[in-house]
Amino acid sequence: MPATIEQGVVLFAFYAFCGWLLEVAYRSFHARHLVNPGFLRGPFVPLYAVGAGCVVLLGRPLAHWHPAALIPLFGVTLTVLEAAVGWLLERQLGVQLWSYEDNRFNWRGRVCLGFSLAWTAMAVVFSWWIHPGALWAVSRVDGQWLRFFALWFTVALALDTAASVAEVRAFRALLGRLQAGFVARRDLELERQLGRLRRLLEAFPDLNLRVFAALRRNLQGAVQTQLTQNFQKFLASIEQRRPREDEWAALVADILEHPEFLRTREFPHHKQVTIFQHACAVSYLSYSLCKKLNLDHRAAARGGLLHDFFLYDWRNHDVPDLPREKFHGFAHPRIALTNAETHFELTDTERDCILRHMWPLTLVPPRTRESFIVSMVDKWVASRELLRRRPGPRDA
Ligand SMILES: [Fe+2]
Ligand SMILES: [Fe+2]
Repeated sequence: MPATIEQGVVLFAFYAFCGWLLEVAYRSFHARHLVNPGFLRGPFVPLYAVGAGCVVLLGRPLAHWHPAALIPLFGVTLTVLEAAVGWLLERQLGVQLWSYEDNRFNWRGRVCLGFSLAWTAMAVVFSWWIHPGALWAVSRVDGQWLRFFALWFTVALALDTAASVAEVRAFRALLGRLQAGFVARRDLELERQLGRLRRLLEAFPDLNLRVFAALRRNLQGAVQTQLTQNFQKFLASIEQRRPREDEWAALVADILEHPEFLRTREFPHHKQVTIFQHACAVSYLSYSLCKKLNLDHRAAARGGLLHDFFLYDWRNHDVPDLPREKFHGFAHPRIALTNAETHFELTDTERDCILRHMWPLTLVPPRTRESFIVSMVDKWVASRELLRRRPGPRDA
């Protein structure tokens, strides 16, 4: 056991840093590029330090126990700790920071047998070799330096935790506000409001365009101001990690292999990006976001992939059943839905993702959170593609 509080804090920081290094190695290996893991911005994963603390606190009074009894107790304690922290984060912040859903013998994605065994093995190595060495090293450091570092770490950890919690809360609140303001409104209510305009809109197509353009500007302006940096940062961070690419590919495998859908590779969309590449990027990002928020990520992946399933060059088309080129923005969600329904079985949410993705250009807003997210991600991806080329998960 550390002799002073300063020693304890320094050891806590050291183990949190070691945990961060382990996570960097593991996550970067799986993502095939460097990943900064963990909830905090700094290079610390405190959960590892808390786990280390549990092992130290248990190991000392039970040192006389036989290892055959002590080692399973380490495993159970660390598993309970991981499950409890996972549950607490989901409950308090509404986010799932890790998920073992793809692993066998998992419990609600929060813990799984394979990792619990790995934690147990690490606890043994830690308590027999690492901790005694770290304890010896920290006891040799000058008290002044220990106090300085302990103070710095405590302040930095508190600030980092507060900032990270606020960031996640702000994002959840923003999503709730946007949803309450736009998504939750019923179609019927809007239909009634639009009914008054319909005759005029049908009678005067040019007025139609002007009205929609004005509405589009106003609504998009309102939405854009709500899309704060948090939302964009959140999307960007998800886009950089690609931890679940295989699961995403499995969910949309039948679409990605379908010859009719593969024809979207032939048509350009934004700058150098084809419809296929754009759709893959929207699908993957929507899927990741919905997975993180415990929403229907399958519907987001499939709806996102099919949202622009039209087979013509929208800037230069001569397809007979398509209205004039300038109506492409209004018409293509329904064309995409018809194509999608011809070739695939769709759920209601997937249908909504396709039909409402051009909102607010098309006035009726998305009905579900998933389709709202697809609609927002579509705008985000499209604006990135227009600004600069960024490869999607299935570039080819
Ligand atoms: Fe579209
Ligand atoms: Fe799109």
